Amino acid sequence: MHNQKQILAVSMGQVMSIKKMMTALTAPADKTLSPGEARCPGPSTQDLLRSEPSNSKDPALLIASDRFLGDNDLPFSRYTSQAFYDREMKELWPKVWQWACREEHIPKPGDFYTYDIGPYSALIVRDEQGVIRAFVNACPHRGMALTDPGSQGSGKQFIRCPFHGMAWALDGSLNEIPCRWDFPHIEDEHFGLDELPCDVWAGFVFVNFDRNCRPLADDLGVLPEHFKDWGLEDRFVAVHTHKTLPGNWKMCMEGFLEAFHVLATHPEVIYTSSWANTQYDIFGPTVTRFLQTVATGNPNLDQTQAEIYRLLGYQDPLPEGQSAREQHALNQRELMGKRFGKDLSEVSTSIMLDSIEYHLFPNACFFPGIQIPLIYRFRPTGLGTCIHEIMLLQPCPDGQSRPAPAEPIKLGIEDSYELVPNFPLAKVLDQDTENFHRQWVGMNASMKPGQTLANYQEARIRNYHQTLDGYLNSGDQD
Ligand code: FES
Ligand SMILES: [Fe+2]
Repeated sequence: MHNQKQILAVSMGQVMSIKKMMTALTAPADKTLSPGEARCPGPSTQDLLRSEPSNSKDPALLIASDRFLGDNDLPFSRYTSQAFYDREMKELWPKVWQWACREEHIPKPGDFYTYDIGPYSALIVRDEQGVIRAFVNACPHRGMALTDPGSQGSGKQFIRCPFHGMAWALDGSLNEIPCRWDFPHIEDEHFGLDELPCDVWAGFVFVNFDRNCRPLADDLGVLPEHFKDWGLEDRFVAVHTHKTLPGNWKMCMEGFLEAFHVLATHPEVIYTSSWANTQYDIFGPTVTRFLQTVATGNPNLDQTQAEIYRLLGYQDPLPEGQSAREQHALNQRELMGKRFGKDLSEVSTSIMLDSIEYHLFPNACFFPGIQIPLIYRFRPTGLGTCIHEIMLLQPCPDGQSRPAPAEPIKLGIEDSYELVPNFPLAKVLDQDTENFHRQWVGMNASMKPGQTLANYQEARIRNYHQTLDGYLNSGDQD
C-alpha cells in the first residue's frame, strides 16, 4: 500500500542545480530579521505575478497579507486527545457556519440534501417559492431522522417522517398528523420543523446549527470581494470524491494548507512549479490563502525557459521571446476552452494555471483556478478518521444549462484515488494520503509534546488554531 517514493530520473545538470538550490535553502536562518520576516531566496510570487500583464485584472492576486502569529509549539493533544475532540463537538461544530451543499444539488422546489457532522444533521430543502431552507433533521414527534445521512433527492411535496407519517410543508410548517384525534395538545404553529440559519455564497449553501450565530458574511471576510469576478456560482461539480482519511480531521486538512511538503512528498513537481516561494496570506481569523505559481519552473533552480517548456510536456520549440508559462497559459486557454465549451481567452494567466487555495474556517477550501478548480471539505468521523470530499468545479459551457452535479465516488481508507476515472490529481493525492497514515502514528507516538511550525509557511495552521481556541474557550470548560 505505502509505495516508496519513486527515484526521479534527473540529468547531471539537474543534480548540480538541485544541490545549489538545497545549499541556498538550507543555509542558516538570518537571526537579524524579525520572526516571520524571512522569505525564500529568489523571486517572490508577487514578482512573478506582477510581471505578467494579464494578472492585473485580478487585483486580489496582487495582494500579500502575511502576519507573524507566534512560534510556540502546538500541542499534539489538540489532535490526539478524545477530550479535545469532544470539546470541538460541543463548542465548534454546533456554532460555526459550514458549507453543506452546492445550489445545483437542489435546483428545484422539493429537492433536498442531508448534511451531517458528528451528531448534528441538517435537512436542506428548496421550498415551493424556490427559497433554500435548512431544518434540524429530526422529527418533532419521536426524533426520527427525516432523511438518511448523506442522502439527497428530489420531488418532495412534503417532508414526511418515515416512522409514523407526520408531514410538514417544504417551508417547515405542519401539514398533517395521522390520528390527529390523539394529539389535542399539539398546536400547529408550535409544531413546525426547527429551522436553522442558512445562506448562500458563490453557489455554496451554508448552514449553522446555532440560531444565534453571526451572519455568514462576517466569516466570509474578503471572500466575496476576492471571488466577485471568478464566477464559482457559474460552475458545476464535474467530479466529486468522498474519501475516508486516516487521522484527525485537522491533521489531514492541514496537510493541504502548506506547500512546504512539496519537496519531500511530491518531488516530481519541483521542476515546474514554485515551492518554497509559495505565498501565504492571512486575511483575518477565518480566511487564509496560499498562492503557488505553476508552470513557472522553480525559481531556485537554474532552468532555461526552453527547458521549462519541455518539462511541461511540449515537444515543439518555445516561440521566441515568450516565457514557458505564458505560452503554456495560452495553450491551455484554447485547449481547456474547447474541452469545456467556454471562452477562456480573457482569463488571467494566474487564474488559468495556479494553485490558489482559500481556506474558510473551519473546514473548507476554495480554489478559483481553472486548471486547478478544487473544492475541499473535511469532516471528522471520529478522533482518528475523517471524510475528505473533493469537488472539481468546472465552468459551465457557454449558452447551455448547468449540467447536473457528479455523484460522489466513495473511497475507503485504503483506496487509491487512481480508482476515480479521469482524475488528474490522483497520484498527488495518494502521496498526501500516505503521509497521513504515518503522521497519525507519529503524532500518537511522539514524546515531544507538540509540533514546531514554520513561521511563514505554516502560519495558516497557527491562525487556524487561534480561531479554533476562540470557539473552544467561549463555552463551559467542563
Ligand atoms: S417519529 Fe416522526 S412521525 Fe413519529
Ligand atoms: Fe500535498
